[in-house]
Amino acid sequence: MTAALRLDGVSFSYGVVQVLADVSLVLAPGERVALLGRNGAGKSTLVRLVTGLARPAAGTVWVGDWDTRDHSPDVLARRVGSVFQHADQQLFARTLEDDVAFGPRALGFERSDVAGRVARALDALELGAQAREHPYDLPPALRKLAALAGALALEPALLVLDEPTAGLDRALRARVTRALLERAGRAGAGGGGAALLVITHDLTFAAELLDRALVLDRGRLACDESLAGLLGAAARLETLGLLRPPVAELSTALDLPGRPIRAADAARVLARVAGGRADP
Ligand SMILES: Nc1ncnc2c1ncn2[C@@H]1O[C@H](COP(=O)(O)OP(=O)(O)OP(=O)(O)O)[C@@H](O)[C@H]1O
Ligand SMILES: [Mg+2]
Repeated sequence: MTAALRLDGVSFSYGVVQVLADVSLVLAPGERVALLGRNGAGKSTLVRLVTGLARPAAGTVWVGDWDTRDHSPDVLARRVGSVFQHADQQLFARTLEDDVAFGPRALGFERSDVAGRVARALDALELGAQAREHPYDLPPALRKLAALAGALALEPALLVLDEPTAGLDRALRARVTRALLERAGRAGAGGGGAALLVITHDLTFAAELLDRALVLDRGRLACDESLAGLLGAAARLETLGLLRPPVAELSTALDLPGRPIRAADAARVLARVAGGRADP
């Protein structure tokens, strides 16, 4: 099966400053992957390479079977939907639904198809009631969701999201988590759902949504493993500059079976353990 995304020995520099060094990774269709690392590690730069806004100095970035060197960013948008770190400042249409429709229209989908994509994207993020509002009349947090809706409306095989929950409260984070789980799990034309590559500093959000972790450390891929495994390794997290989320802390502190990292899983295990104690 063709990978949703493959980086083969990718390096990139801004002038003389090397920002990514020999990065290789593969995302299978439907995989849900966190891209982690300190400020300045090179995460957003990697997004620019995947979306075709920058070209690797060495190595190759494959989106499906397309080499990003051979395609412009607008063509790559057929396969990769993205939300940039400050995407809430990039809305420009007069209504939210027009903004979300921009991508599918630009890709040349028919009017009824565009309408369906927009409706599904707004629906997934529970933004239907705001469809006719001006994007800049929305609170900043909802503008962030609007940008995400624009990426969902492309219905791509790969979603690359740079800090999609920055500035969102708990309820909105849960909304984003639900929408993305649904997109990743959905049976699409190719059989699988969308692969997710999500940059975040919020490891609680990451734990709820994602199950594999890539960590960039000064431009190098320092880690590629299960997110649960990484969150269980306190010393390594610290070395990589990452903050362990409370559920993972609790799991380790109480030595919970399976070391769950998601709140619902931890609650289930705790109930079982407590039930076992109450029931001799
Ligand atoms: N346009 C640019 N010109 C020169 N250097 C840049 C440019 N953009 C980023 N850099 C530098 O490249 C390095 C990687 O930046 P990048 O934005 O990819 O990091 P990041 O991992 O996304 O960080 P953050 O978590 O703060 O968003 C940093 O040292 C940054 O200062
Ligand atoms: Mg960044």
